[in-house]
Amino acid sequence: MAVQDFEAALQKRRTIYALGNTSPISDEQIVSLVQDTVKHVPSAFNNQSARVVVLFGEESKKLWNIVLETLRKIVPADNFSSTEEKIAGFAAGHGTILYFDDAAVTDSLKEQFKLYADNFDPWAEQANGMVQHAVWVALAQAGLGASLQHYNPLIDDEVKSTFGLPAAWRLRAQMPFGAVAAPAGDKDFAPIEDRVKVFGLND
Ligand SMILES: Cc1cc2nc3c(=O)[nH]c(=O)nc-3n(C[C@H](O)[C@H](O)[C@H](O)COP(=O)(O)O)c2cc1C
Repeated sequence: MAVQDFEAALQKRRTIYALGNTSPISDEQIVSLVQDTVKHVPSAFNNQSARVVVLFGEESKKLWNIVLETLRKIVPADNFSSTEEKIAGFAAGHGTILYFDDAAVTDSLKEQFKLYADNFDPWAEQANGMVQHAVWVALAQAGLGASLQHYNPLIDDEVKSTFGLPAAWRLRAQMPFGAVAAPAGDKDFAPIEDRVKVFGLND
């Protein structure tokens, strides 16, 4: 792959809120793409503490119903219709990817390597973010739209009990995905010179 192809793939990934329930690739291909990505994204000390759950169809709808009913208990009733609409948009997709960190792994590393104990939580977040981004880019390359949502920790316990997941898994993000029903909106970019400093160019 030429480096330009990689840059084009990065640019193709956008936040897509308008999702359809179909997919240009098979569910097996989606699972395989997620597995390959999770496998090859790096982690601190190669600890591989990121965990991912892929929900398709009705299982994905179950997730968004948990979100809806959890929010119904805390969002004032007169504001709830916009929340309901937003959640329905996520539920309308083809599926959802849940990102977790396995605290059993991260916490045992804190014990094992006391000198770096304070670093393992931020490292786990960084590695999880890398997985999220890589999967998002891969989905976009496959022609799927996706967005990144954060209803954790409100929904964690119910999600874990519904899908039978280990208690030690900490939910970090939810990524609804599906056919691109409408393109992403415009995006502002801060001046790149303020964000990337270069020294010793062509030294
Ligand atoms: C760490 C992180 C957290 C985000 N959280 C949310 C979120 O909770 N809800 C949401 O709709 N978008 C969320 N986003 C998406 C950003 O708003 C979006 O990526 C940004 O506006 C740039 O737009 P783009 O994704 O189309 O490039 C998040 C993105 C990142 C990287």
